[in-house]
Amino acid sequence: METRIEEVAPGIHQLTTHIAEMNFSFNQYLIAGDEPMLFHTGPRQMFPLVSEAVGRVVPADQMRWISFGHVEADECGSMNEWLAMAPQSTVVQGMTGCMVSLNDLADRAPRPLADGEVLDIGGHRMRWIDTPHVPHAWEAGIVYDETTRTLFCGDLFTQTGAYASSSTADLVGPAGAAEDIFRSTSLAPSTGATLRRLADLDIAALALMHGPTFTGDCRTALLDLADDYDKRIAAA
Ligand SMILES: [Fe+2]
Ligand SMILES: [Fe+2]
Repeated sequence: METRIEEVAPGIHQLTTHIAEMNFSFNQYLIAGDEPMLFHTGPRQMFPLVSEAVGRVVPADQMRWISFGHVEADECGSMNEWLAMAPQSTVVQGMTGCMVSLNDLADRAPRPLADGEVLDIGGHRMRWIDTPHVPHAWEAGIVYDETTRTLFCGDLFTQTGAYASSSTADLVGPAGAAEDIFRSTSLAPSTGATLRRLADLDIAALALMHGPTFTGDCRTALLDLADDYDKRIAAA
């Protein structure tokens, strides 16, 4: 097992580890600003692979910010390993995640961001957006890099299997097939509206956790995903 690392947008490095036995892959993103950020850490068991791959681009012990969409093993399983390895690093997440979980779970105090607040990491302006229960979890949020117009959308559009680092191929079909298997999305009445609000951002790339970085028509992809969820809700 090894971790591939590819620069998918200026200063944005996608790390991908494919687990053949699971037919599933896990990405993390290194945003190599003046103050480097890791967006989702990967599971704790993957920390040796991920930290080694990060070290090919920036010294891993220089990591400044550890961020993620919600509290789950593949989102933040190794946050405390990172806090230990990088002495100046801080976990940064939404107000809800910090209040409910991270003030307790993180080995150092996290930095909470309000909905819409921007963290300037030097070369990238990272905007936190609350998306409660989308794709799942009360504390869920998404980060938008205003500089490269990249939306770090975590588990949205999750697909199975291996994939190229970047793609313009349809995301919604594979995401629907994965949703049929995993049923991982919270199908709430507000789910579609939350996705349509994200579609209003000016997005050049969708950086997935379990799928490629998509550089096609991001607005249409988000609107089509919202429609797919609305259909599932109506059918339920
Ligand atoms: Fe998740
Ligand atoms: Fe995930």
